[in-house]
Amino acid sequence: MANKNLNAAKTAKKDEFYTQLVDIENELRHYKDHFKGKTVLCNCDDPRVSNFFHYFSYNFEQLGLKRLITTCYKNQDRDLFSQHDSERAIWLEYNGDKNGNRVPDPEEIGINYLQGDGDFRSPECIELLKQADIVVTNPPFSLFREYVAQLIEYDKKFIIIGHQNNISYKEIFPLIKNNKIWLGYGFKGGAGHFISNYEDVATASDHKVGMIRVSGVTWFTNLEIPKRNEELILYKRYSPEEYPKYDNYDAINVNKTSDIPIDYDGVMGVPITFLDKYNPEQFEIIGLDRYVEDNPKYGHRFTIGNKETYARILIRRRERLVAYKLEENNKLAMAAEQNNN
Ligand SMILES: C[S@@+](CC[C@H](N)C(=O)[O-])C[C@H]1O[C@@H](n2cnc3c(N)ncnc32)[C@H](O)[C@@H]1O
Repeated sequence: MANKNLNAAKTAKKDEFYTQLVDIENELRHYKDHFKGKTVLCNCDDPRVSNFFHYFSYNFEQLGLKRLITTCYKNQDRDLFSQHDSERAIWLEYNGDKNGNRVPDPEEIGINYLQGDGDFRSPECIELLKQADIVVTNPPFSLFREYVAQLIEYDKKFIIIGHQNNISYKEIFPLIKNNKIWLGYGFKGGAGHFISNYEDVATASDHKVGMIRVSGVTWFTNLEIPKRNEELILYKRYSPEEYPKYDNYDAINVNKTSDIPIDYDGVMGVPITFLDKYNPEQFEIIGLDRYVEDNPKYGHRFTIGNKETYARILIRRRERLVAYKLEENNKLAMAAEQNNN
């Protein structure tokens, strides 16, 4: 049901969900070492309501930030929940506490006017993007593809909120496969509560007043986090009965990430949620079922007994590659030795 909210929001291009401070704190505590001496940009954030601005301005000294820039999008529709009530879009700059009270006072925050509406794609906002080291925000769900493409184009580090569905986007998945983007720590229970006045139709028991519950939200980043080096502990052994092969692709099907067999060296199809546990030292990502090059029914999911499976990511153990390469090297060395003799 909760996904209905997101879909409805997407269709109506309603992007006014505000992130809770507690969710920002929970994620960003894992990244503290990255911020020292850095300029942070929050470019989808009305500072009057954005908890991202709140978090970085109040933690400016503790994080050792150099500069905080926030741009505010001027909403075209006054009737929305948004409190964008100013005639013009603005951008704010905070360079840290000056009067020693360790609080961002209004006179310490520089307010600048933008010429346009503050669209993150506008030339003036791109100029601010160029000045940033790390971009941190919850961008509009409806513009996720474009938002990420721009961050990649300008070679920026980022920590942003997106949705699990974004993983299988044609534009996003190759970035994940090539280790240019990965998942952050995420939201408790895989769902976030966002401050919003959209009607919350979620039936989940953790419904909260004044909030919309969105399941499947997650954090995307390209900053190193310890989680990425944690090895997934596996205990199951491969058997052809428990792990059938797909009808039309040479890989076994694994229904749960924790069930990945410890001793299978070939290609395995695993649920998308595997990415939460993905350690690039342990596994290699081959592709996404639908779009893997040698899928005979390109664009379609695999089948088992003619029944379509859930979406799968194709992976292979890294250790096997190492063993394979050693074997190959040994063969080459032996061949060279024979030639010398
Ligand atoms: C999901 S909300 C999150 C707001 C805020 N970042 C937060 O987390 O509380 C996305 C925000 O992006 C703004 N927005 C929509 N289109 C935008 C655009 N083209 N450029 C910049 N901001 C935009 C919306 O007005 C909305 O406030």
